[in-house]
Amino acid sequence: MFKIPFLDLPPLRSAAGTVRLPGSKSISNRVLLLAALSEGQTVVRDLLASDDTAVMLESLRTLGCGVWRDGDAVVIDGLGSRLRAKQAKLFLGNAGTAMRPLTAALAVLAATQGGEFEVSGVPRMHERPIGDLVDALRGLGCAIDDLGNPGYPPLRLRGPSALALDAPVRVRGDVSSQFLTALLLALPLVAGFEAPNPPEGVPPARGGPAPGRDIRIEVIGELISKPYIEITLALLARFGIAVKREGWSAFVIPAGSRYVSPGEVFVEGDASSASYFVGLGAIAAVDAPIRIEGVGSESLQGDVRFAEAAAAMGAVVQTGPNWLEVRRGAWPLKGITLDCNHIPDAAMTLTVMALYADGPTTLTNIASWRVKETDRIAAMATELRKLGASVDEGPDWIRVQPLRDWRAASIHTYDDHRVAMCFSLAAFNGLVTDAAVPVRIQEPHCVAKTFPDYFETLFGVVTARAEDIPVITIDGPTASGKGTLADEVGKALGFGVLDSGALYRVTGLAARRAGLDLDDGPAVAALVPTLELRFSGGQVFLGPEDVSARLRAEATGLLASQVAVHPEVRQALHQLQLDFRRLPGLVADGRDMGTAIFPDAALKVFLTASAATRAERRYKQLISKGNSTTIEGLREDLEARDERDKNRSASPLAPAQDAQLLDNSALSIEASVEQVLNWWQKRRPF
Ligand code: C5P
Repeated sequence: MFKIPFLDLPPLRSAAGTVRLPGSKSISNRVLLLAALSEGQTVVRDLLASDDTAVMLESLRTLGCGVWRDGDAVVIDGLGSRLRAKQAKLFLGNAGTAMRPLTAALAVLAATQGGEFEVSGVPRMHERPIGDLVDALRGLGCAIDDLGNPGYPPLRLRGPSALALDAPVRVRGDVSSQFLTALLLALPLVAGFEAPNPPEGVPPARGGPAPGRDIRIEVIGELISKPYIEITLALLARFGIAVKREGWSAFVIPAGSRYVSPGEVFVEGDASSASYFVGLGAIAAVDAPIRIEGVGSESLQGDVRFAEAAAAMGAVVQTGPNWLEVRRGAWPLKGITLDCNHIPDAAMTLTVMALYADGPTTLTNIASWRVKETDRIAAMATELRKLGASVDEGPDWIRVQPLRDWRAASIHTYDDHRVAMCFSLAAFNGLVTDAAVPVRIQEPHCVAKTFPDYFETLFGVVTARAEDIPVITIDGPTASGKGTLADEVGKALGFGVLDSGALYRVTGLAARRAGLDLDDGPAVAALVPTLELRFSGGQVFLGPEDVSARLRAEATGLLASQVAVHPEVRQALHQLQLDFRRLPGLVADGRDMGTAIFPDAALKVFLTASAATRAERRYKQLISKGNSTTIEGLREDLEARDERDKNRSASPLAPAQDAQLLDNSALSIEASVEQVLNWWQKRRPF
C-alpha cells in the first residue's frame, strides 16, 4: 500500500448515511489466541483486518498453528494447549493486545512443556510497561529474561520450570487491565489435567494424569478499564472456561478447565471505532442520522457506552441490538465532566467534540492514556492547542475549552490510529465559525491499526461544499506526460484523478461505433447522456465492456480531438467532469481544466515538452506495448492534434492566466511531481 505523508481534510459541513464497522480489535485478537489455544478448528468471521491482527496471525503461524482463509473467514487450527514449536522469535509491532496475552501464554507453556520464546515490538512497544505482568508470571514460577529495560519488552520466556499454582497469582490492575486479561487467557492452560508427556526436567505425574486444580488470580489495587475484563470473561465462556469471580478483586479458573473451540465465532464491530461516527452524528447529522452497524445494546464491548457520553453532550442516540443511530440534538454541544475509566479508548473522541461545546469538558480517571500507543493525554493536548484550543492536563485528566477561533493545523499523529481518527472531527469547524479551515492529518495510514479504510468510510457519509474541495489542474498538449504526472500527484496527496481526455476519447469511440458523423456536434453531444460510463480502479467501462485499452490507442485520440472541437460536446461533458470533485480532493488533467472546468482551482499547472520529446516518449510507450509506429509519423500526428486543440474556437488549448508553466522536456517524472507538490505546499495554510 502506498503511504501518503499527510491527508488534508477540507472543511466538512454535514453527515448522513450508514457505516458498517470493522471488527473489534480487542475481540479479534482475543478470539485468535483462544482459537489457537483450543483443540480443533475455529472459523472466525468478521475478523478485523488490520496491523494488530496481522501480527497476531503471523505469530500464531510461527507457533505452528494452522491459519488459512476460507472466503471472508479465517480458520484457525488450534494447538490444543500443546506447543508445536519450542523456539520462536515473535515480532508484535505495537499491538498491546498481542504482546500481553502471548507473553503470558508462552511463559506458562514454556514452563510446563519447555521452550524458549522471544517477544519484541516497535520502539514504542518497548516503552509500554509490562512489568506488572512479568512480576505476576515470575511469582508463579515462570522464567522470564528482560532483554531490554526491566519491566518492558523485549522479553525472553524460558522453560521448563516448576509452577507454583497452589498459591494465588497476584497481579496489579491499576496500570493496564491487559495484564489481568493476559493471565485469564493463559492460566486455563494449566488448570486442566497435568501434561501426559512432560518434557525433560519436569517429573512425570505419578499414577497417570493428575486432575488439575483451581487457579486463583487476585488483583492488587483498583482495577481499571473493567469493561475489557468483561470481554475477556465473555469470550473465555465461549471457549469453555467458566471463570468464577469475586467482584473485581479475585477470579478463579476452575480445576479441569480446558479450552474447547465453539466451532464458529462472529466478531462484533469495533465499539471504539464507532465513537468517531457517534461524534460525527452529534456534530453534523442534522437532516438525517448516522447509522452505525456492528455494535449496539447487545455488544460485549464496554466502549458502546460512549454513546451515553455523547448523549450527555447533546447527541440524540437510538440503539438496537447491533446498531446505533445518532443525530445532532443540542447545538452547540454541552460541555461535560466525566469519569472515563470505563471507556478509556473511545473517550479520546470527546476531547475533539469538546471544541464544539458551550463550556469546558473535563475527562477524569484516564491515567491509562499515558501508556497507550503514545502518551495520549500529552498528544491530544498538544494537537488540540495547534488548532487554537485552550487545554489543561494533569496526570490523569484533561480539560478542553470550546473553540471558536480556529487555526488551520497540521496534526501530528504519533503513530496512534485514534489520534488520527479523532482529529478528523475537527474538520467540521465551519459549523461554528465563518472562517472555516482545513485540517491536515499527518501519517494517516496509522489508522490501519484498527480501521484501515477509515477515511474512505468517513468520506462516504460526509459532505463538503464543492468550492472547499481542492482541485489541482494539469493542462497541456498531447503526450506531455499530464496523465502520469496527475496520477503521481494524486497518489501523493490521496486525491482522486480525472483524466478528462478519456471522456473525449470514449465519446469519440462511441460516436464512431454508433456510425455518427463526427462533424455533427449536436448529434455527438446527444449521445453523451446515453453512455453507460463507469470508472473503476483506473479502468474505464462502457456498458459491460472494459474499453481502457481501446481508449489509449492513437486512433481513438484522433477521434477525441475531432469531437472535442464542438461546443455542444464540451457542454455535454461539463457536469460529468465537475462530478469528479470529491473528497478529499482532485487532480484533473486535460486541455481546459484550469480555464473552463475548474477556473477556481487552487493550483493550475500548464505542462509542456518539446514536440520532439513528446514524440519520442509516445514512441517508446507504443513500442513497449508491441505496436509498430515511427517517430516521424507520431510527431506529425501530435503536431496536427496540437494545432486542432489550439485553434478551435471552443476552449482552445492555452495556459490559464494564473497557471504555473512547467516544461518537463529535461525533467524526470519524480522531479516534475516534486515541483508540483512544492507549488501545492506553498498554497496550503499549514
Ligand atoms: O489527453 P488526451 O490525449 O487523452 O485527449 C485526447 C483529446 O481529447 C485531445 O487531443 C483533445 O482534443 C481532447 N481533450 C479536450 N479537452 C480535455 C481533454 C481532452 O479537448 N480536457
